Amino acid sequence: MSENVVWHHQKVTRADRASIKNQSPCLLWFTGLSGSGKSTIANALDVALFERGYHTFLLDGDNVRHGLNKDLGFSDEGRVENIRRIGEVSKLFTDAGMIVLSAFISPFTSDRRLVRNLFPAGEYIEVFMDTPLETCEQRDPKGLYEKARAGTIKHFTGIDSPYEAPERPEVRLDTSQMSVDECVNRLIDYLLERQLIF
Ligand code: PPS
Repeated sequence: MSENVVWHHQKVTRADRASIKNQSPCLLWFTGLSGSGKSTIANALDVALFERGYHTFLLDGDNVRHGLNKDLGFSDEGRVENIRRIGEVSKLFTDAGMIVLSAFISPFTSDRRLVRNLFPAGEYIEVFMDTPLETCEQRDPKGLYEKARAGTIKHFTGIDSPYEAPERPEVRLDTSQMSVDECVNRLIDYLLERQLIF
């Protein structure tokens, strides 16, 4: 970054923007294998919060890779840059006062830590979709595991590319054991308990 670039402090703060909606800005970061339920639960929570009148925004892996990150692939370097950019974009939306839901495999602990460190304590909520690989592979909603096993997709997470499971996520959900409603209720309870929604 150029040394001639200086930070401008804005008069309307993120807290000001969030207070209009009885919410406190935060990021729910959904991480987990393909097929673990990240998008399903993030979407269901998004709907539930929206219906209650909160101002949310959902960033989802496949969609962001169609636009902002369409230049990035699935090499380790591509994934690192993918998550770095999403972290920064998530930060911008929380600065706008929103509750942000980001759903990305985000397989590397160091990348998730980088995103966590962009936020004040308590504003980054890691939601680990701890659904077993066998279940994800049985679901195989996009047929990608089958292709990965056949070797027609390389570097597929959980097959020939690693997933480093979070050790201390704020919330752990296993969609092979919990229904969509149970997962959503758990997350809403978390937000209420932490006074991130009122
Ligand atoms: S990452 O690892 O966080 O950068 O990945 P992400 O941006 O979340 O994108 C994951 C979706 O991309 C599709 N896809 C792959 N996933 C994993 N490995 C490989 N090689 C791959 N190639 C394509 C896949 O549809 C993922 O979507 P989800 O929703 O996770 O199933």
